[in-house]
Amino acid sequence: MNILGINYFYHDTSACVVKDGDLVVAVEQERFSRDKHTWQFPHTAIERALKEAGMEPGDITDVAVSIDPTKHWHRKVLYAPRLGLRMKPFVKHEGVRAWYRQREFKAWWDSFFGSGKGPRLHNVGHHLAHIAGSFYISGYDRAALLSIDGSGEWSTTWLGETDGQSFRCLSESFFPNSLGSFYEAATEFCGFRPNYDEGKTMGLAPFGDHDRFKEEMGKLVSVDAKGRLHVDTSYFEYDNWGGKRCGAKYYELFGKPRGRYDEIEKYHEDVAAAAQRVLEDRVLQMCSILEKETTADYLVIAGGVALNSVMNGRILRETRFKDVYVMPAAGDNGTSIGAAYYVHNHVHKSPKRYHHDNPYVGTEYSNDEIEALIKECKLPYERSDDICVDTARILREGNIVGWFQGRMEIGPRALGNRSILCDPTLPHMKDKINAEVKHREAYRPFAPSAIAECAHEFFEIDVEAPFMLKVCQVKDDKKCKLPAITHVDGSARLQTVRKETNPRYHRLISEFGNLSGVPVVLNTSFNIMGEPIVESPIQAIRCFFSTGLDVLVLGDFIVRKS
Ligand SMILES: [Fe+2]
Repeated sequence: MNILGINYFYHDTSACVVKDGDLVVAVEQERFSRDKHTWQFPHTAIERALKEAGMEPGDITDVAVSIDPTKHWHRKVLYAPRLGLRMKPFVKHEGVRAWYRQREFKAWWDSFFGSGKGPRLHNVGHHLAHIAGSFYISGYDRAALLSIDGSGEWSTTWLGETDGQSFRCLSESFFPNSLGSFYEAATEFCGFRPNYDEGKTMGLAPFGDHDRFKEEMGKLVSVDAKGRLHVDTSYFEYDNWGGKRCGAKYYELFGKPRGRYDEIEKYHEDVAAAAQRVLEDRVLQMCSILEKETTADYLVIAGGVALNSVMNGRILRETRFKDVYVMPAAGDNGTSIGAAYYVHNHVHKSPKRYHHDNPYVGTEYSNDEIEALIKECKLPYERSDDICVDTARILREGNIVGWFQGRMEIGPRALGNRSILCDPTLPHMKDKINAEVKHREAYRPFAPSAIAECAHEFFEIDVEAPFMLKVCQVKDDKKCKLPAITHVDGSARLQTVRKETNPRYHRLISEFGNLSGVPVVLNTSFNIMGEPIVESPIQAIRCFFSTGLDVLVLGDFIVRKS
């Protein structure tokens, strides 16, 4: 059974191939279109996924898509009359846009599979693709389930549980009662792009005083005894559909919003802090309902809000769940994987066995391809006999390294194959990379990658965090040793690296540990602010020469600027 999973309806379009239950390949369209969080139909992602899988369209037995256009339509019909004169953007967003997306899909299907019978098509509901998909690829046999995003088919939050056979929904919330949209409004208020830059809001929050606006922010959204969300919509302008999120009452409460190029004022930080804290508190309320209503030891979280790694860290610390699974592409990009596994395990009743703990499922370039390109570009280079030892030395000498290896990661975090790396013990590195390499805001923190067996010596965490989605505290006596990755509140967005999953990255960090005494490197995504992570060697070379990167390591080759 060869299942092609596709997310084409929502942003972060993507494609994957699941062959007899194994995730053979998964790629995001943005890496090829070079348009971050793209809405573009994933033509290239589908093409490259099949190429990596060594398949032709005729090999595909099932196509799973993460949208069920018939779902919750009655809720939209009931919502529409309240809009009155503001009906136009609603019709444009829910009617015209949806029709256009479906037409694009039909055109792709016809050209891809031709006029023959073609594979079976499965429309998987958006939150089912989020939640069931994440559960089926988690290592758990049963789990409490929580899916939270801005909105998918009008649904915004889904709480439930599974015994591995069926899914029980405890409660569901619907637009405009949305935690994703609530957090997007705070992102917009802080001068960042909503539904795009939520990570910036999360990074800004620790600089603020969360108590200053906590009461006001808390009034905007509540959770009832069933876990359903209730938002006071009078503070928002959600009916713009893609336009401005905050309403006049929001500004009365918190002040003037920040313009994109304005200085960040103290009250912007305080609003970010309050929004972050209220988000965490409301999700923890939902988790406490799941703690009471289910007997599961583990929790699976999915949806765009699950990318809030600070929130995930609090869930881990403050609930009875032994561990939390969040897939590396927890946003809409991962729904192609979710839809495919929902079809494999639920529709076709195949036993659950695949554990997605390896995010390196993307495209790959051989040493031969890389060397040919370097020669074509007439770049000075050397081939290393032991790239891990040589790169560890280069890092220890204080260089910032572009590190391009093996198969590309899935999801928004670079996890050691398309990464920018440096020595985390050097205090000036954070400012240097922000200013000279990433060209981004000076306050933004960087994350550490540590070898899994030593992570507990440096960080307050006793579970693994392979996808950089669980924020924890740096141990008090280690903060001075890791200044470049310790955030202002003493936290870090840790990635633990296992030898079995990524032997080359694990060895590099180990070799760096031999030189520095600290088996930890600073790891940030290989891109410039606003651009997607690099996919190919040529993109890596372009990024290298347009930033302050010191050394580029492509496969076994070392490229320098001089
Ligand atoms: Fe979603």
